[in-house]
Amino acid sequence: MTEHTFTFGFRPEADPAQAGLAREELQAFTARWADILDDRSVPMPTRQHGPYGFEYARIEVPDLRATIEFLEYHVGLQLEQHTDEYAYLRSDIEHHCIELIAAPHREDGWTTAIGYSVGSEEVLEQLHKRVLDAGLEVLELQERQKGLCANGFAVADPNGLIVELFTEFHEYAEPPHIEIRPKDLVHPFLSTPKWQESLDFYQNVLGFLASDHVVGSTTFLRCEDRYHHSLAVQKNKEFFVGHLCFAMKSLDHVMRLRARALYKGAPIASDIVNHSASTSIAFYLHDTKFGPRFELCDAHRVLTPEEHETHRARHMPADPRNIDVWRPAADDWGRF
Ligand SMILES: [Fe+2]
Repeated sequence: MTEHTFTFGFRPEADPAQAGLAREELQAFTARWADILDDRSVPMPTRQHGPYGFEYARIEVPDLRATIEFLEYHVGLQLEQHTDEYAYLRSDIEHHCIELIAAPHREDGWTTAIGYSVGSEEVLEQLHKRVLDAGLEVLELQERQKGLCANGFAVADPNGLIVELFTEFHEYAEPPHIEIRPKDLVHPFLSTPKWQESLDFYQNVLGFLASDHVVGSTTFLRCEDRYHHSLAVQKNKEFFVGHLCFAMKSLDHVMRLRARALYKGAPIASDIVNHSASTSIAFYLHDTKFGPRFELCDAHRVLTPEEHETHRARHMPADPRNIDVWRPAADDWGRF
């Protein structure tokens, strides 16, 4: 058998009418040649689309200045626009990946919102409709965020965490001129007593796809940017944003930031692990004053376009070796 494989995607700026026409022509093409094409060549049924990718977290912190210094030195972020009330930090060209809000009344940092970009106005409209159909309240974007994108809205997840969804997030022409910095903010990790409700919300309303399950404990969900997970949801006794994961450019950079933490006394909550689900190697920084843990990783899996459409989520037992494949035995639960 001779094999020719094509994957078609439409640019975010594509005219929806034209994209619809192209889709029909592709369907007509496969119908025309049905006798000689195998069944994998039939176009995928149109599935609902989720957001494109994770862009930022908004964190209220008791000490704005100290948090900025921590994120600059220990995570490699660059401070951009800031006042005494708020600060934006970025890792790459996207406008920001962390928005800090001064909250002197707090003892610990607290994440109040997560932001996801959406690939097109068409998908944003579909998300808006699904939120309304689910009987949920459509909220406005935060006032400043309205000025940093083309269009969008917000919705509270079952835990009260605000999820902001928007198109055309503003971007810089160049990344920061910092050698050791993250190239992307990959995912938040949510811990929640409303586990099933949260999974229903993120999968059925927002259109995230399940990538893998640690049975009874954690589900990893992906967006259209095809990172293995752009969100993880863990069953827990209380709700909190457990960590935010940054992808570094290399393992060397992960180890250099680990050395900074070790030698300069920043707390490492969980040291080097090799994650089974996302195939990434990571460590976690945590000082509660600055918000959630910050996971710094290398080699986070990105699915191919074909895998993205066909991937079957694994069901893995809750064994430490299914979270860190380097753990030697089933009872090695320490140091997570
Ligand atoms: Fe993670």
